[in-house]
Amino acid sequence: MEKEFQSIYDEIVDLMKSALNDSSHTYRTFSFASIDEKSPKVRTVVLRSFSIKDNYFEFHSDIRSPKLSELKKNKNFSALFYSSETKVQIRFSGKVKTLYNCSETEKRWEQVTPSSKRCYMGPYSPSESLNEYHPNIPENFQFNNPSDEESSAGYKNFVIIRCFFDRLDYLKLKYSGHSRCCFKFYENDITAEWIAP
Ligand SMILES: Cc1cc2nc3c(=O)[nH]c(=O)nc-3n(C[C@H](O)[C@H](O)[C@H](O)COP(=O)(O)O)c2cc1C
Repeated sequence: MEKEFQSIYDEIVDLMKSALNDSSHTYRTFSFASIDEKSPKVRTVVLRSFSIKDNYFEFHSDIRSPKLSELKKNKNFSALFYSSETKVQIRFSGKVKTLYNCSETEKRWEQVTPSSKRCYMGPYSPSESLNEYHPNIPENFQFNNPSDEESSAGYKNFVIIRCFFDRLDYLKLKYSGHSRCCFKFYENDITAEWIAP
């Protein structure tokens, strides 16, 4: 890869890694889009892992949520990260793989905080219509955390969405002229080119 693209690539890797180490980093949450029949659907999710070696990042979700059935029909995704501090926007696209009830989800579930585990224990499917307000966490855990044993009921709803990217678009805003380029990933090869900002 040419030197000018290599330094941008290194900056992207740094941003993603920093977000994993710092829960207040602006890249810790991102917008994730899937396709519902023909319409795009976008929502905020939390970055949970990033592998530059294997070209993927991950977030956690509830298997009952509509995005899971959307992704089953169409694995294509687009994900958007933006930091107003660095003025860098990164758009990733590719295909997802859903991990469910496997050794990787088992290991990850152990790292999920008890407070987050409550979110997988709700009686309703996320996005389901309700007749009246309900926080969708069990009433006995609204103000306290479940024990490991109690929260194990949530594991059956827990999924890891692994987002394999084959393209990323980088845009950095600057008064003297914005910089924009795209990286394409194919097997072990990476190509980069400038694109108009
Ligand atoms: C800051 C923030 C972080 C969120 N993180 C996640 C997440 O990591 N995983 C997730 O499934 N939903 C997360 N949500 C909720 C989603 O944005 C969305 O409302 C929910 O997953 C239902 O989405 P769906 O109906 O498109 O499937 C988060 C919402 C906010 C505001």
